[in-house]
Amino acid sequence: MEVPMNKSIIFPGIGKLLHGGDYNPDQWLDRPDILKEDIRLMKKAGVNVVTLGVFAWSTYEPVEGEFHFEWLKEIMDNLYENGIYTILATPSGARPAWLDEKYPEAMRVARNGMRNHHGLRHNHCMSSEKYREKVANLDGKRAENVGSHPGLILWHISNEFGGECWCDQCKKRFQEYLRNRYHNDIEELNKQWWTNFWSHHYNSFEQVEPPYQNGETSVHGLNLDWKRFTTWNMTDFMKHEIEVIRQYSPNVPVTANLMRLYNGLDYHEMAKDIDVISWDSYPAWNNDYETVTQTALDTAFDHSVMRSLKREKPFLLMESVPSQVNWHPFNKLKRPGIHKLSCIQAAACGSDMIGYFQWRKGRGSYEQYHGAVLDHLGTDETRVFKDVAEVGEILRKLAPIEGSLVKPEAAMLFDWNNRWAIEDMAGLSKNKKYEDTCRKQYTAFLKHGVDMDVISPEADLSNYKLIVMPMLYLLKPGFTDRLKEYVAKGGVVVSTYLTGYVNENTLCYLGGFPGDGLKELFGLYTEEIDALYPSDTNGITFRAGTLAENAKTFPVTDFCEMIKPTGAEVIGTYEKDFYAGTPAVTVNTYGKGKAYYVGARMNTEGMEDFYHEVWKQAGITPKALPDGIEFHVRTDNEVDYEFYLNFSDEEKKIYGIRNGINLLTDGKVEDELTIKPYDLAVLRILR
Ligand code: GAL
Repeated sequence: MEVPMNKSIIFPGIGKLLHGGDYNPDQWLDRPDILKEDIRLMKKAGVNVVTLGVFAWSTYEPVEGEFHFEWLKEIMDNLYENGIYTILATPSGARPAWLDEKYPEAMRVARNGMRNHHGLRHNHCMSSEKYREKVANLDGKRAENVGSHPGLILWHISNEFGGECWCDQCKKRFQEYLRNRYHNDIEELNKQWWTNFWSHHYNSFEQVEPPYQNGETSVHGLNLDWKRFTTWNMTDFMKHEIEVIRQYSPNVPVTANLMRLYNGLDYHEMAKDIDVISWDSYPAWNNDYETVTQTALDTAFDHSVMRSLKREKPFLLMESVPSQVNWHPFNKLKRPGIHKLSCIQAAACGSDMIGYFQWRKGRGSYEQYHGAVLDHLGTDETRVFKDVAEVGEILRKLAPIEGSLVKPEAAMLFDWNNRWAIEDMAGLSKNKKYEDTCRKQYTAFLKHGVDMDVISPEADLSNYKLIVMPMLYLLKPGFTDRLKEYVAKGGVVVSTYLTGYVNENTLCYLGGFPGDGLKELFGLYTEEIDALYPSDTNGITFRAGTLAENAKTFPVTDFCEMIKPTGAEVIGTYEKDFYAGTPAVTVNTYGKGKAYYVGARMNTEGMEDFYHEVWKQAGITPKALPDGIEFHVRTDNEVDYEFYLNFSDEEKKIYGIRNGINLLTDGKVEDELTIKPYDLAVLRILR
């Protein structure tokens, strides 16, 4: 199959954006009439892909060793004959009762050391040899049966990997993991974990226990290594499944459906073993605590995190809901227009698929009231079905964007290790808010039409004109050298309070923060950090001639760091308190680039003003967008696709736009664009 060189097509030969979602025919095998109707209505809704068998283990193997794949083959055949592709999930996310009865070691142990009973899902032990054997057996047999089916385009490994197991087998594997990490040298572990504190020194790896609920939780190095181990062990389990599948189905790529900024796994590590990134998005649209525009900006951040896990390819929105979920505190219906906008927002951010959970509502049990394309009512006459069909039609028109990419000029550094270390750090204030800070900075960018990737410290920095690294408390080895090289060559970097305090094992840097060579890059060191009460107030005053002709002051909250410049130029100072007038924001010239340091948590307005100055330095041009309009660009290097999404309830006019064709109407657009409330435009613009 010939694939155009300028596109990153994930599924050659399909020539469409994917539209579909989780389909659970195993719950309806006694209703052939319904299965037939499903296909008819899928076609009507413009569905061209389904994810099959996510939780179908007990249908595949109702008793140990007795396998049934005929039904699956028949369903895949029917779908394929009707132009619908299959994403096939491995069913390891939930176990049949016979398995737990016979092999209780497959059931997860909780942090207090107690083993779960049978039930629920996503609760297996990742280390259990028996469970791995049973999963591999089923995965292999099924891949042998349908792994070369022409309708199969993607393997979906398990479901939403997550959680932790605290059983003895996991403890043993953890000890082995540590032995490996610390080169079989327990004294090295003691040193890195600072275990002479409270007399917590270990004599052997066998003495090290996971941080049980009622055990050792005061050693930060241990806590962090346990998190890293969980990622490693979960990834190892996933790789075990992938290996078996590849034996029979070597040419079909694999994915695992991720969960936005899920805190339990380092997705940067996991993503290395996945071919295609996919994720499940369930924002609370029209909630009572923020505007729809804010929910949208927040969701765009999640899409960016996912996209950036493999920036050289589009990602897939594997799951979303066409109406209401059943697990938010309040499950509001999607208001008119929101379904369309939220789906196309995913495409605008780089997704080549819009998937739903699920196609048809199950009659009973926990998810019977979870939204689906088809309601219990069973017809295509519903508002939800029509919304879905409309998205199907829009995606058909957007087929040309397949394989194009979002290529922002700016990136934000986000690191799970850093997040864990900040959360675990004992001190300062309970308002650490790492994730929230990252989201707010992203929002400050996107509101002005400047998109960002959200990258790991290992990513190639040279792709960007500007790197923002909020609260990079933990520095991984090698990162600072690469950052210095990036700035020396002309890059611009912005860093904040709480940068460079600890090494990868949470040992503080000696000789002043930020450590590991960053003092030189920023031309400063920091001496103290003040943690404010919520009722405390302070501000940063930017010198006249920096952000504006006159001096400007913005409020700050939570943290104020005392900066001692050793070469950096001071552009902002503190407004109040015993450190009034001392440096709060600085900029240092380093080689051909600039390194900014912001010592306190500024309010949104301050951040936006400050970033306008930084963008100028970095050669990035913001866009003047009306409130409520979100802007994204995908490109295949020959054509740019500009997305304008109106997340407000007012008609908006946008001026000074590039001329192009609106892919949704085929109409020419010149200079200005009018977008109705909760509507959108996608412009095709030759470069
Ligand atoms: C996801 C899960 C699906 C379904 C959905 C409901 O987290 O992967 O199986 O349960 O939530 O919103």
